[in-house]
Amino acid sequence: MRILGILGSPRIGNTEALFEAFADGAHAHGASVESVRLKDVRFVPCKACEACFKTGDCVVEDGFKQIAAAIDEVDALVIATPIHFGGPSALATAFFSRCQQYYARKYVLKRSVRPKASGRGIGIVITTSALDNPDFTECVKRIAGYVLNTLDFEPRALLWIPDMDAPDDAMHNPEALKKAFELGAKVAQRRWDELKW
Ligand SMILES: Cc1cc2nc3c(=O)[nH]c(=O)nc-3n(C[C@H](O)[C@H](O)[C@H](O)COP(=O)(O)O)c2cc1C
Repeated sequence: MRILGILGSPRIGNTEALFEAFADGAHAHGASVESVRLKDVRFVPCKACEACFKTGDCVVEDGFKQIAAAIDEVDALVIATPIHFGGPSALATAFFSRCQQYYARKYVLKRSVRPKASGRGIGIVITTSALDNPDFTECVKRIAGYVLNTLDFEPRALLWIPDMDAPDDAMHNPEALKKAFELGAKVAQRRWDELKW
């Protein structure tokens, strides 16, 4: 199984630590895991030029192209984003906007969204926040769920860990790391019925 993680934090902190624990769990059961730190990718948000409505492909030549090439082939997509102002980070949101080419393929051109993929994949969200307010996760769940469905990944699990403020809070929280590890293990073992969205 091939898994891609999209890391949406502007720093190397809690969501990345949880994603790494998730990746360890998935590796332990034979999955191959890649990740992209959006903060290190030069890309711009969608320009709404609608060129993709004709071809299904984005015309903007930047770092998103490489991410899209990986998205096209993986079995599972993990979106790891901190909560910023009650929703996904600006980096994650910019990335979501660039997924418009998949919207074009699915709803405008009515063709296969990820033709190189072996069927519909699964989508996972990992998110952290400083405050323990479930409204934040509802927002991330709704937006990320919409994006995952558009990309032809069925949203299957959301791991939200609140009370994470300093960048190393997750690193010092064995219980949170264990939850992420076990989630990665379940995904790789295809124990998808045990997952909760
Ligand atoms: C710009 C910004 C906005 C934030 N907004 C919220 C918020 O609305 N609610 C909240 O609980 N935490 C908020 N936080 C705190 C982060 O969600 C929290 O520190 C998270 O664990 C960071 O994850 P990271 O280390 O992966 O970046 C915000 C942090 C930043 C930098």
